[in-house]
Amino acid sequence: MDFYSIKGNKKLKGTVEISGAKNAALPIIVASLLADGETVLKNVPDLQDIRTIVKVIEYLGAETDFNAEKNILKINVKNLKNNEVPYELVKTMRASVYVMGPLLARCNEADVSLPGGCAIGERPVDIHLSGFEAMDTTVDLEHGYIKARTPKLKGCTFAMRTVSVGATANLMMGAVLAKGKTTLENCAMEPDIVDLGEFLIKMGAKIQGLGTDRIEIEGVKKLNPTTYSIMADRIEAGTYLLAGAITKGAVTITKCEPDHIRSLIDILKEIGFNLSENKKSVSISGGKKLQGAIVRTLPYPGFPTDLQAPLLALMTTIPGISVMIETIFENRFTHVAELRRMGADVVIEGDVAVAKGVKELSAAPVMMSDLRAGAALVVAALAAKGETEIRRIYHSDRGYEKMAKKLTALGATILRKEGGTY
Ligand code: EPZ
Repeated sequence: MDFYSIKGNKKLKGTVEISGAKNAALPIIVASLLADGETVLKNVPDLQDIRTIVKVIEYLGAETDFNAEKNILKINVKNLKNNEVPYELVKTMRASVYVMGPLLARCNEADVSLPGGCAIGERPVDIHLSGFEAMDTTVDLEHGYIKARTPKLKGCTFAMRTVSVGATANLMMGAVLAKGKTTLENCAMEPDIVDLGEFLIKMGAKIQGLGTDRIEIEGVKKLNPTTYSIMADRIEAGTYLLAGAITKGAVTITKCEPDHIRSLIDILKEIGFNLSENKKSVSISGGKKLQGAIVRTLPYPGFPTDLQAPLLALMTTIPGISVMIETIFENRFTHVAELRRMGADVVIEGDVAVAKGVKELSAAPVMMSDLRAGAALVVAALAAKGETEIRRIYHSDRGYEKMAKKLTALGATILRKEGGTY
């Protein structure tokens, strides 16, 4: 299996272009199933998860053409079939459960493998299922499969017991073709959801309240395929800012949305970095007089859980004490044991990690356990003294397009090597 070899302790300098957002592209690709004809999506990142979701919609009858170099994905839907979306597809990517919305909306049935948990937590889908039940769907679980049936999705008012990005996306995709009006309360305000909503509106959906915790959808009879450009990936953007910070370099991220990472920008300023921004770019530099921070992950516009691991990596090098409280997932500190191997001084107590800044991290062989934990190890390795080998980098391939190439362009010494038995 491929692994990274990173020679750290080098200031990163220069500009990096941010790719399209994985977590907006995934639901938007699935939402293309809501209309027959050709959908053209631009700024689609070439990632493992994107290729997986493309396989899923092909399984359901879509024809696709992905020009990875140009990041353009064409999807042609003509006879949508409710094929059982099998476990082997869903287990590699939980977002496959998004197909429930379009399948129920157009075929009145959906048979989807119940997604399992993953490294960061149990990842239940109960809110998805209760939402569809509120829309007049019967849901049975048989041999690990969700068997959902409806005479016709019916609009409803549904309040989520906890904010769920996935459930908001899934239920929106059902509601746009349901009979009558749907009001989703306590729903996600993430930019990815706004991007999905804008795409659905371009298809002819009637949606109000995007970006708030109350979305109202008036069901329509039919939607039409359209052309749409995916927004920039705020998590990738934040990850490269953190790479610039930990190496005390001078990095500018472009083709991004500064407002989508406002919480991270404010935290980096509080720690003591210099940040400046234009309409579509953010620059970071400095790092002379730094101090620890206390951060809690929250639904948007709070600090995103997907940046928790790379920010904690930075915190391990900031003088003094920093505290990270993970409020979204129950097991999202798997990167800490690996950071300790690199000399980090971090104590975990439940969903709280306390980091005592060390003068310097040191290279050590480490292993990725999930996508964002992997990003944390790359960020740490960029600052560590010596050459760090990072294994199981297929995890980061899921969410960071051309990562080695982008970091090399910033002056990092990072090689992707083949081989290794694990
Ligand atoms: C999305 O996952 C993202 N994935 C995650 O990014 C992200 O970490 C997460 O939202 C939170 O922002 C995609 O968009 C593909 P949730 P999702 O439903 O939708 C609980 C990455 O690294 N919950 O908002 O699965 C859940 O356990 C990935 O790119 C229920 O209890 O997250 C969690 O504690 C990782 N029941 C909380 O809600 C449900 O039915 C938030 O989960 C659904 C969720």
